[in-house]
Amino acid sequence: MDKDLELKKIADAVSDCKKCDLCHSRDKGVPGEGPPDAEIMFIGEGPGFHENMQGRPFVGAAGNLLVELLGAIGMKREQVFITNVVKCRPPGNRDPQPEELQACNPYLEKQLQIINPKVIVTLGRFSMARFIPQAKISEIHGQPVKVKGMLVVPFFHPAAALHRPSLRPVVEEDFAKLPELIRNAQQAPAYHPAEQIEDNNKAEQLSLF
Ligand code: URA
Ligand code: SF4
Repeated sequence: MDKDLELKKIADAVSDCKKCDLCHSRDKGVPGEGPPDAEIMFIGEGPGFHENMQGRPFVGAAGNLLVELLGAIGMKREQVFITNVVKCRPPGNRDPQPEELQACNPYLEKQLQIINPKVIVTLGRFSMARFIPQAKISEIHGQPVKVKGMLVVPFFHPAAALHRPSLRPVVEEDFAKLPELIRNAQQAPAYHPAEQIEDNNKAEQLSLF
């Protein structure tokens, strides 16, 4: 099937989804957006206030910073696919709960399968934990990790840099590594969701390089 159409189907499913309690408090589901053949996929935590109102990811303060950080490495948000580990806003921006992350995961799984990006950038610890469960973001941020053929690069969440200005140069340095990572990354071999889930449960599979 056409990739655009497949992504549209996911977006439609998200807007009607009632698979977890977040459906009760959301205004709009936020499936994510970007080109179906994007080389790079950014995965954040979950929609905030503005995202929930507009149905689009990263359109508030953290989004403005993301756009600025992308601009500094010569990239535009329209070039990348942007989504979150939960597609509906947790009330008051609280942390997403394990059952919500689990309920929402199949949407992300499908998006990864369709887009098969060269590089996955996780923004914040919830998104990192989806791929590298045992890691500490303060220890591995900016370092690429191969997870079942996928190149995953964990970054701090841009909102963290807004709350802690001392993190800003660290976040900028991490972003500066991206163009080379994308240049050197191979397209992942065919992506197998079942293996991926199994992989998440095995700490020893983590390989830093
Ligand atoms: N923060 C996130 O993690 N995701 C968004 O879409 C916006 C802010
Ligand atoms: Fe469905 Fe995900 Fe929204 Fe929960 S967060 S209602 S699983 S789309």
